[in-house]
Amino acid sequence: MKRRQLLFAIGGALIGVPVIGALIYDAIAKSKNQTTYEPAAAQSPTSVASNNLADANNEISLETTEEPLLRFAAIADNGFGSPDQFAVAKAMWETYQQKPYAFVLMAGDNIYSYGEIKLAKAYFEEPYAPLLKENVKFYAVLGNHDIIKSNNGLDQINYKPFNMSDRYYSFTQGDVKEGTVEFFALDTNSNAAWEAQLTWLDQQLAKSTAPWKIVYGHHPLYSSGRHGSNPELAAKLAPIFAKHKVHLYLCGHDHGYERFNAINGTTYIVNGGGGAPLYKFGRSPQTAFVSSQFSFMTFDVYQDKIITKAIATDGKVFDRSIITKTIA
Ligand SMILES: [Fe+2]
Repeated sequence: MKRRQLLFAIGGALIGVPVIGALIYDAIAKSKNQTTYEPAAAQSPTSVASNNLADANNEISLETTEEPLLRFAAIADNGFGSPDQFAVAKAMWETYQQKPYAFVLMAGDNIYSYGEIKLAKAYFEEPYAPLLKENVKFYAVLGNHDIIKSNNGLDQINYKPFNMSDRYYSFTQGDVKEGTVEFFALDTNSNAAWEAQLTWLDQQLAKSTAPWKIVYGHHPLYSSGRHGSNPELAAKLAPIFAKHKVHLYLCGHDHGYERFNAINGTTYIVNGGGGAPLYKFGRSPQTAFVSSQFSFMTFDVYQDKIITKAIATDGKVFDRSIITKTIA
């Protein structure tokens, strides 16, 4: 641990960002009692995450030369100012140069450790400078760290590069009708205006005519990481997702990657390897793939499928899946 902290400090000094907060958080994170999990069993790096059980048994090609209607990326738990964050950011940039994506979903804990907007330059603008220069937009939501010393997150909402029109909001992307996705960005913190937000989400999803519906927020409903599943959150959100046939829920909070087989028609992915210290993950019967490593994701949206890719800091895809539109 000492060696890691030393390397961390040297790395931080070299890239000229404050690391004291990061070091404190790292030490706290490591000193906390971690739940002991069984190591993840051997697993296939590619699989089909179908929303229809029948499709899961069919051969669906994961490789295609067909250009997607829309490509986007996603990160979470990234705003740490660490060399690991910069390594993920570098891989994001290299991937972008090969396969440009239109924007990035940023699922919270955008600025460690307390959400201070004065750190946005070091923890956001610098790591993602090449992407920002190319006008790649980031759409943020508030994580638990983002509301501590930020006027309860208001400073981040008012920070233009995070593109947050409110604490929770929706937006559509995609030029071709068949490829359009509507995104629903949530505030999943415990102090959120839950009653109003759930009514809003229910109504917005009911109104949505988008062929693809994707919801994202910071906290997982289901996870085998340190924080684990959140039955309270699942009780609030899972029935709405099932009612409106939400195809995907993306989150972070647990620092690592875990993709679940579709649960009541919705694929759940924890994508928290954006740069903060990693957690140990176990696995559940619903886990399709789990790997705790620094990473980000890309999504290729087609008329009939979304191809998901989890990408490591070496640029290699370590998990890919297909989400289909049909819901049983
Ligand atoms: Fe978090």
